[in-house]
Amino acid sequence: MDRIRIGGGNELNGEIPISGAKNAALPLMIASLLTAETLTLKNLPRLADVQLLKRILHNHGVDQRTDGKRAGQCSQAGETVHFTAADIVDTTAPYNLVSKMRASFWVLGPLLTRFHDTRVSLPGGCAIGTRPVDFYLMALRELGAELDIENGYVVAKAPGGLKGNRITFPMVSVGATHTALMAATLAKGETVIENAAREPEVIDVAECLVKMGAKIDGIGTSTLTIQGVDELHGATHEVLADRIETGTYAMAVAMTGGDVTLRGGRPDNLNSMISVLEQAGATIDVEDNGMRIRRNGNGLKPVDVETQPYPGFPTDLQAQFMALMTRAGGTSVIRETIFENRFMHVQELARLGADISLSGDTATVKGVDQLHGAEVMATDLRASVSLVIAALAAEGESMLHRVYHLDRGFETLEDKLSACGADISRISD
Ligand code: EPZ
Repeated sequence: MDRIRIGGGNELNGEIPISGAKNAALPLMIASLLTAETLTLKNLPRLADVQLLKRILHNHGVDQRTDGKRAGQCSQAGETVHFTAADIVDTTAPYNLVSKMRASFWVLGPLLTRFHDTRVSLPGGCAIGTRPVDFYLMALRELGAELDIENGYVVAKAPGGLKGNRITFPMVSVGATHTALMAATLAKGETVIENAAREPEVIDVAECLVKMGAKIDGIGTSTLTIQGVDELHGATHEVLADRIETGTYAMAVAMTGGDVTLRGGRPDNLNSMISVLEQAGATIDVEDNGMRIRRNGNGLKPVDVETQPYPGFPTDLQAQFMALMTRAGGTSVIRETIFENRFMHVQELARLGADISLSGDTATVKGVDQLHGAEVMATDLRASVSLVIAALAAEGESMLHRVYHLDRGFETLEDKLSACGADISRISD
């Protein structure tokens, strides 16, 4: 199993290219199930989760063709893949695939609305929380689906097709919004989704669906109105830049000090984080094609943060921000309001010398003068990268185990960081 070795203490200076967003790429790939024509996705990140979803779509019968490298293309440019769901052979998403990645449950909406009959394994809980799927099921029932849970599978039928209706989510859910939106595109009549997620990834998917012929009003707001159409067609869409990768590297630079341009990053999708990092003492400049982050000499100031759905501070940056606050000159309070168990990194950060106490959904972080290298273990995707950030600023050497979590969501992380001066390398046994 691979490990990552990090020698702490180096500043980061240079440029980091930002990849396509994992959390836009996955639902965009799933949207290919809505049409018999080809959906071409550009800038797909080379990530373990993307590879796994390709296998899942392949299992349904989706043809996939990947373009070769183009002359002059940067080595870290994303892939262009053509997905064609013309001959679906199986509308069942089995346990052995869905249990490996929650987002694969999202095939439920497109398969049901297009084929009127599907079986999708329940995803189960995960390291960050119980993560129920009741909002997904409620939304599909509102659209007229007949749903049963049998042997751990959602068995969904819609004889005659789904019918538009009003769906009001009790709280904001990214996945349930994707599911309801995709299902509504081919439902008969009008669907109104209230309290919809407004995350940039939801907007990216909605814009792709419009290119495919969907009729959607209110994109980017919490009320989406969809007029169902008989069928969708092929389209070409470029995956949005990853705001969580951008934010993660911004925090790494704020942690180590230095001056890095995050090429292709979209600061307009990171306003809440930018304001927090500026309060903490970093300087951020919006550039034509990215953002520049600097911290020179000055100490980090403590800042309190509470995670919220977009446009609030993202839960997917909470662990990274906590790593940063371990070195602040004072105490910060971090409240996690989205997932009840997203504090698995706390014990591992403590191994590096962090002083963090937990009470319910709140972590109190007392900044320390110095972190010290240690062996640490990745527990989930964002938790693992928070350990990388802490280790980059720790005195001495750290070893990160179980890095497959990292490979799910960060493309060539060691290459991107070492190109900016970090002492980081992968050890494959
Ligand atoms: C998406 O997960 C992301 N995943 C997560 O990214 C992200 O943390 C999360 O949204 C919040 O931004 C992908 O995009 C692939 P939710 P999702 O439904 O859709 C509760 C990462 O590290 N809820 O918005 O599963 C739920 O338990 C990841 O890249 C219900 O109660 O999250 C949570 O408390 C991890 N019932 C809250 O809503 C439901 O039926 C928000 O979760 C659905 C959700």
